[in-house]
Amino acid sequence: MYPGSEIYGGLSNSWDFGPIGAQLKKNIKDLWWKTFVEQRDDVLGLDAAIIMNPKVWEASGHVAGFSDPLVECKSCHNRFRADYVDIKEKCPTCTEKNWSEVKNFNLMLKTQLGAVEGSSNTAYLRPETAQGQFVDFKNVLSTNPKKLPFGIAQMGKAFRNEITTGNFLFRVRELEQMEIEYFIEEKDWQEMFELWRNEMWNWFDLVGLDTTKIHEHEIEDGERAHYSKRTIDFEFDYPFGQKELYGLAYRTDYDLKKHQEASGQDLSYEGVVPHVIEPTWGVDRTFLAVMLSAYCEDGDRIVLKLNPKIASYKVAVFPLVRNKKEITKKAEDVYKDLKKNFAAVWDDRGNIGKRYYSQDEIGTPWCVTVDYQTLEDETVTVRDRDTATQERIAIKDLDSYFQNKLK
Ligand code: GAP
Repeated sequence: MYPGSEIYGGLSNSWDFGPIGAQLKKNIKDLWWKTFVEQRDDVLGLDAAIIMNPKVWEASGHVAGFSDPLVECKSCHNRFRADYVDIKEKCPTCTEKNWSEVKNFNLMLKTQLGAVEGSSNTAYLRPETAQGQFVDFKNVLSTNPKKLPFGIAQMGKAFRNEITTGNFLFRVRELEQMEIEYFIEEKDWQEMFELWRNEMWNWFDLVGLDTTKIHEHEIEDGERAHYSKRTIDFEFDYPFGQKELYGLAYRTDYDLKKHQEASGQDLSYEGVVPHVIEPTWGVDRTFLAVMLSAYCEDGDRIVLKLNPKIASYKVAVFPLVRNKKEITKKAEDVYKDLKKNFAAVWDDRGNIGKRYYSQDEIGTPWCVTVDYQTLEDETVTVRDRDTATQERIAIKDLDSYFQNKLK
């Protein structure tokens, strides 16, 4: 990861994913899509535009209600979330006690569409992906009829003008979400809530989160988002405290009803306006929690024990020595072959021990070494990241060996 725009001194809380990080993030998203869209018959995928008609955000309640309480120190002009500072105490920055009134600050990021500036061209960058699922509800169904219950899933960027950012990827202004709006009959909401609660726990194991660090937190009346009748937050033990990782909400028929009223379109289906259970996953927080779950120190080794399914590289290929042409040539052939089916990486720098250690640090589950014996019997060593043990495998069996491991 790099600080965003680093050569210009960065930009507060923006982060760029470098080559290995970008691949890890993509693999997390691919695993989610495969699990919840491709492998299920009851969930359909969607990729809606980030900038939607501003009427969407009026109808959804975000223009009026998507805000945090803001307080300003009138001495140093620093702004804080009023629920994060104690305004009976002094300002944590300048130690004066000179607070403004608490105001509501809308978190949506505004932009202008087209060449003319003015309030009639104001649009918002979506603060959640979910509204795409509601607004496109009828379009999706017109070509993909489904019986209730069924879901529409979407992943992509969302933006929030957070007052207080921080803790690395935990709270950023440009974030990524993976969300399912699961449409149900009202009478089934408790059962469907439990179904998705269970699916979230399955996901923790699948993606490689340390489940001993995950805690459910029932959000009380008065604390929930404006649309929710029940919410559970799944919290994670980050180094900076136990805080939200994901959420599961019962959004009732709030959104479809609001869009029905505001658009004048009939959004009922099978004779009812469906109710909604919404499991939601933040990609950035997943990335952070996965890294924290996978990081291990094992003697003098640093090992990222990632689930091989999401590891950036699946296999690294090394020639044992650099100065023996036959070994290098053989290793190149093995590498090219593996690269057809796996994210493989080549390394011939330094000594073999250092190469293993650098792959351990980025979580590559297997290293293949071509050595003198390879030239005699067409076998290589495969070294396992977590146990540091090695076994000899025939080159012709490598493909099926790794396919099996990644099943
Ligand atoms: N559609 C429902 C919704 O947006 P949310 O709890 O506000 O609910 C969902 O956000 C998820 O998005 C959170 O559980 C978290 O993982 C992620 N998220 C929200 N705000 C974030 C931020 N500022 N930075 C990073 N991730 C964020």
